Amino acid sequence: MEQIVNPQLKGHTGIGHTRWATHGAPTDDNAHPHANANGRIAIVHNGIIENYVSLRKYLEHLGVTFKSDTDTEVLVQLIGRFYKGDLEQAVRRALHDVAGTYGITVICADEPDVIVAARKGSPLIIGVGQGEHVIASDASAILAHTSQVVYLEDGEIARVTPSEFRLTTLEAIPVNREVEEVEWSLDQIELAGYEHFMQKEIFEQPTAMENCLRGRIDLEEGQVRLGGLVDCTRELIRTKRFILTACGTAWHSALVGEYLFEEIIRIPTEVEYASEFRYRNPIVEEGTTVIAVSQSGETTDTQAALREAKQRGALVLGVVNVVGSTIARETDAGVYLHVGPEIGVASTKAFTGQVAVLALMACYLGRRKHMSVASSTLFLTALSRIPDQMRETLKGADQAKEVAARFHQCENWLYLGRGFNYPLALEGALKLKEISYIHAEGLPAAEMKHGPIALITEGMPVVFIATAGSQYEKIMSNVEEVRSRGGSIIAIATEGDREIARHADHVIFVPDTIEPLQPLLASIPLQLIAYHAAVLRGCNVDKPRNLAKSVTVE
Ligand code: M6R
Repeated sequence: MEQIVNPQLKGHTGIGHTRWATHGAPTDDNAHPHANANGRIAIVHNGIIENYVSLRKYLEHLGVTFKSDTDTEVLVQLIGRFYKGDLEQAVRRALHDVAGTYGITVICADEPDVIVAARKGSPLIIGVGQGEHVIASDASAILAHTSQVVYLEDGEIARVTPSEFRLTTLEAIPVNREVEEVEWSLDQIELAGYEHFMQKEIFEQPTAMENCLRGRIDLEEGQVRLGGLVDCTRELIRTKRFILTACGTAWHSALVGEYLFEEIIRIPTEVEYASEFRYRNPIVEEGTTVIAVSQSGETTDTQAALREAKQRGALVLGVVNVVGSTIARETDAGVYLHVGPEIGVASTKAFTGQVAVLALMACYLGRRKHMSVASSTLFLTALSRIPDQMRETLKGADQAKEVAARFHQCENWLYLGRGFNYPLALEGALKLKEISYIHAEGLPAAEMKHGPIALITEGMPVVFIATAGSQYEKIMSNVEEVRSRGGSIIAIATEGDREIARHADHVIFVPDTIEPLQPLLASIPLQLIAYHAAVLRGCNVDKPRNLAKSVTVE
């Protein structure tokens, strides 16, 4: 949360919002808060009012003049029309006419102690302080004030004053909700000497991974303990098909999950973009388990996909980082990542946390089906070594910086991988484009010859995730195909590979681990290349243009 230092601002009740433009360009006129006709009621709004065109026409017909192009202004003008001395009532009345999603806070000059908040589809929490309340969409925004929070559910309205808060439904039925404790601490959301949160979160990965794995691995028995799955284990074992659904980076970790599940549990598994799954009339037969993967637990498309799956009778699980988030609360069961708060928009430690949790889930179920003690012990031993191997990997961080220094001015990059490393190629490309604004494409390496190879020109950076394993020879052939067309080869390879340096312009080594777990290590140099390229290009690493940390609109 940015601190506003303005001596002209007086008062003790305020609202503010960093707008992610949906309707109207990012201009001062379209910036929040918006006010009603007489300027006495103000609103900030996260979400989309879908019927704003008809509401706007109706209000214009009544003589209301609009100052912005936003859907939000329509809502505050509507609240103003219904205001008869009780802000909560006016908000309740207006929301009955509104279709769409919202997390709103509303204030009125005539009720200076009151903030009215309401939620449908966009997250909202009330922070309970001493003689004060703070409302936010994310717990990390209020941790400096309090760790006591109350989560609003969809269809609820809160009337908040410095001394108390009252929750009701849209139909004015009172709601009792417990105050909960946020498990994150303030120092976890501070930079702690790092220049950027992304950099901090990359370097935190060994500790984050230890926290993620803590208490979950029993090496002697070759067993995984996942308390969140205990109640649904019987049903899970009977699963005939897994569908993993997610967006962005979480979709990439779900893709690694698909490979892990099919390899270890031997149950058909597919990965769906949440935004596609929700609208394509999906077939959800009996015995389907849908797993929503999300760092924030608030991504609108992922939430909607899980609701769709639930409605169609699937068992619905969550793999989520933010405790108490909407997805965590709406799923039947799930596993938290426990990697701590992720502040940088580019997801890093959440990616490795998601892959680790999916690996644990695969082993948890595999062991209950046909996985032998010997093979699960081997797998879990490798997994428990990952935090230290991440530390080793991070010692080579300067190599990634050298790669970024040499290629950061190139506007087109390719990332290629096979097998478990194919999702990493997608993830490496996404990291580079979202924070450094370089165009990058990730592909399964064999797909290159079906079209993208035409892009290769002299000196074009092509990143190969070429770690040791069953696909090594194949990927080396792809390396040669690029090299013979003049591309510059950047290889992520396994320590001890003496051959690769003869084929690549740059090699970044990562420690040896079993093939299914290689993404946990090989992702780190990819994150570092993207980070350094963005820094060298002068980009805003933690808050890249046009992006939000959690995407709470469709
Ligand atoms: O909070 P979620 O994991 O549901 O977020 C999903 C994506 O919006 C997110 O991973 C996004 O792609 C990141 N900016 C990628 O770094």
